[in-house]
Amino acid sequence: MSLPADVAAIQPADAPTARDTILTGDRPTGALHLGHYAGSLRTRVALQGRCPQTLLIADLQALTDASSRASQVAAHVEEVALDYLAAGIDPALTTIAVQSRLPALSELTVLYLNLVTVARLERNPTVKAEIELRGFARDIPAGFLCYPVSQAADISGFRATLVPVGDDQVPMIEQTNEIVRRVNRLAGTPVLPECRALLSSTPRLPGVDGRKASKSLGNAIPLGATPDDIRRLVQAMYTDSGHIRAADPGVVEGNVVFAYLDAFDPDAEAVAELKAGYRRGGMGDVVLKRRLVDVLEHLLAPLRARRAELAGDRAHVREVLREGSMRAIEVTRTVLRDVREVFGLEPH
Ligand code: TRP
Repeated sequence: MSLPADVAAIQPADAPTARDTILTGDRPTGALHLGHYAGSLRTRVALQGRCPQTLLIADLQALTDASSRASQVAAHVEEVALDYLAAGIDPALTTIAVQSRLPALSELTVLYLNLVTVARLERNPTVKAEIELRGFARDIPAGFLCYPVSQAADISGFRATLVPVGDDQVPMIEQTNEIVRRVNRLAGTPVLPECRALLSSTPRLPGVDGRKASKSLGNAIPLGATPDDIRRLVQAMYTDSGHIRAADPGVVEGNVVFAYLDAFDPDAEAVAELKAGYRRGGMGDVVLKRRLVDVLEHLLAPLRARRAELAGDRAHVREVLREGSMRAIEVTRTVLRDVREVFGLEPH
């Protein structure tokens, strides 16, 4: 399968070597959207085959925040797998595994919990922000507070060295490395490798209304968007509230349409010209939005077609998950053995 132009063009600054192992994951709380695609998914597609790569559908992590919506989490596991496959993830090159099917990760989490303090967990900036967002106080689910530890188990459970994620996940990588160093110190020898984040060169995409893109706000563009969805969502995009008449100069910074053009229009020169014209005045929002609709339709049409094809063959998707999880069970089991030994739990 040939790579989409936007994927083929990716040259991450911190490109992997053949010695790297990639692991990353997503919570199955809903369909993936363009923010996931720009932030990490297209990097994963571009990197597959260069080194071993596993994508983890993190259903246990999703439950730390959505235990009341457990059946939805379960239902979304296959949807996320469909999104991966539609976006160009090839199961022959990339292992796709379901977190809850890998018991070694849960056992690693239990062991790692002894190496982390509650104070440290409460200081994790991502967890802190999420606690505020959800208004948690003492009623915070213990599993939620501890999910960085489970994420450290996900990453180290595959001996991963490279983690393609959005910038909000950097504190998780730091906390993983702290745990890895503690395990190695206990062992007196490097049992586990440290890892580094692989950040996207695209800044985080806003939702169509300029707020943080979120499934619950309905302001993200799903990878499965129909041509009508695309038109409607682009139509609703915030541009520059001061740009009333086409003849007026417009502002590019903070303009959501330009954020998306920067992320997805393969013709950077044309976008630069559009920006210059918009700043000068004489260019209406309609022109920009029409271009963005074309760019997104061009990007998403093949994904949509592949998704429709795959959605008709659920048995295949289930088989991909079964096979990937089986492979991952083996890998994570050997890591768990080594860590159990560090804690004196393996018979000699
Ligand atoms: N925390 C990530 C998110 O919310 C999902 C995730 C779970 C993950 N396990 C991971 C990401 C391991 C990277 C590595 O998107």
